[in-house]
Amino acid sequence: MTAGAFRGRRVLVTGGAGFLGSSMAHHLSAEGAQVTVIDAMVKDTGANPFNLEGLKADIHRKDLRDREAIGPLVKGQDFVFHFAGQVSHSDSMRDPFQDLGANAEASLALLEACRRGCPEARILFSATRQQYGRPRYLPLDEAHPQEAVDINGIHKRAAEDYHLLYHRVYGMRCTSLRLTNTYGPRQLLAHPRQGFVPWFVRLAMEGKPLQLFGGGEQRRDFSYVDDVLEAFLRTALNDATLGEAYNVGGERPYSLNEFVRVLFEVVGGGTSTVVPFPPEKKSIDIGDAYCTADKLARAVGWAPKVPLKEGLERTVAFYRKHLERYT
Ligand SMILES: NC(=O)c1ccc[n+]([C@@H]2O[C@H](COP(=O)([O-])OP(=O)(O)OC[C@H]3O[C@@H](n4cnc5c(N)ncnc54)[C@H](O)[C@@H]3O)[C@@H](O)[C@H]2O)c1
Repeated sequence: MTAGAFRGRRVLVTGGAGFLGSSMAHHLSAEGAQVTVIDAMVKDTGANPFNLEGLKADIHRKDLRDREAIGPLVKGQDFVFHFAGQVSHSDSMRDPFQDLGANAEASLALLEACRRGCPEARILFSATRQQYGRPRYLPLDEAHPQEAVDINGIHKRAAEDYHLLYHRVYGMRCTSLRLTNTYGPRQLLAHPRQGFVPWFVRLAMEGKPLQLFGGGEQRRDFSYVDDVLEAFLRTALNDATLGEAYNVGGERPYSLNEFVRVLFEVVGGGTSTVVPFPPEKKSIDIGDAYCTADKLARAVGWAPKVPLKEGLERTVAFYRKHLERYT
C-alpha cells in the first residue's frame, strides 16, 4: 500500500482491538512499524481479543480517558491512528453519556496527551458521514452542512472539531477522514447495532431472512476495509492534508436492494423481506446518503479499488473460517 514508508516508525493505534484499528495495526506491524495499541475492550463494541491474535505490537488495555496511563504510551509516537470510539447510532441514543465519553471525551484526552507527549506526531481521526445528517444534496461533499440526526453524529463532529482546532491553535498535525459504511474481515457481527452491513453478512451466511426497512430503495455507498486503510496511510504521509477533513466514499451508490442481491450472489442464495421502519430507527434514519471522495482524490490520489462484490467475497471467505469468533 505505502511501500515501507512506516518501517521502523513509532505508530499508536487507538481502538486497536476493534475492526478498523486491528486491521491497521496488523498492516503496519507487517510493514515493520513499531506498533502500540491502546484499547479499553469496551463491551458491545467491536473489541475482540481474536483481532489481536498474532499481532506483533505493544498492547495496552487502557481507556483513553485515563490520562495518567495514556501519557507515557503516547510519548514519542510518530503517527497516531485514532480509531477508538463508539460506532452505534442507536446505542448513542440509548446511552448518550457513554457515547460522549467514548467519542468526544476520549478524543480530547488523547489530543491533550499528544500535545504534551508527541506534539509533532501525525494524527489521523476516523470521523463519519453521519455528521452530515439528512442530505440536502447528493453526493455529500465536505462543504455540506453538518446537521447530525443522532447523538453519535454530534459527538463525532465534536471530536473532529477538537482535532482541527488543535491544528489551528497548537499547530498539531491532525487530519480527519469521514468514513461511510465500512465493512470487511474483523468486524463485529454479534448484534445489529453497529450497522446493517456486518449484520446482513451474518444473517445471509446463516441462511436467515434479512429485514429491509421501508422498501430497500435507500442508496448508500460502501467502503472495503483495505481501501479505508489506504486512505489513512496515504493521508498520513501527505502534509498538504493537515488541518483538513475529507470524505472517504465508496465506488458508487447502491440501493439496499442491490446490495442484498450482490450479497446473496456471493453467499449463494438468501431471502429478504420488506418491513416498515421501527419508529426509533426512522427518527434517526438519513434516507439516501452517499459521499464524493473527490477532495481526497485530488489531495492524495486516493480512490476506492475494491468493488462491492469483491469486498463481500473477501469478507465472506474470512467469516467462513472465523464466524464463531465474531458472533
Ligand atoms: N465501521 C464503520 O462503518 C465506521 C463508519 C464511520 C466511522 N467509523 C469510525 O471508525 C472508528 C472505528 O470503527 P470500528 O468499526 O473499528 O469500531 P469498533 O467498535 O470495531 O472498534 C472501536 C474500538 O474502540 C475501543 N474503545 C472505545 N472507547 C474507548 C476508550 N475510551 N478508550 C480506549 N478504547 C476505546 C473499543 O473497545 C473498540 O475496540 C470509530 O471511531 C467509528 O466512529 C466507523
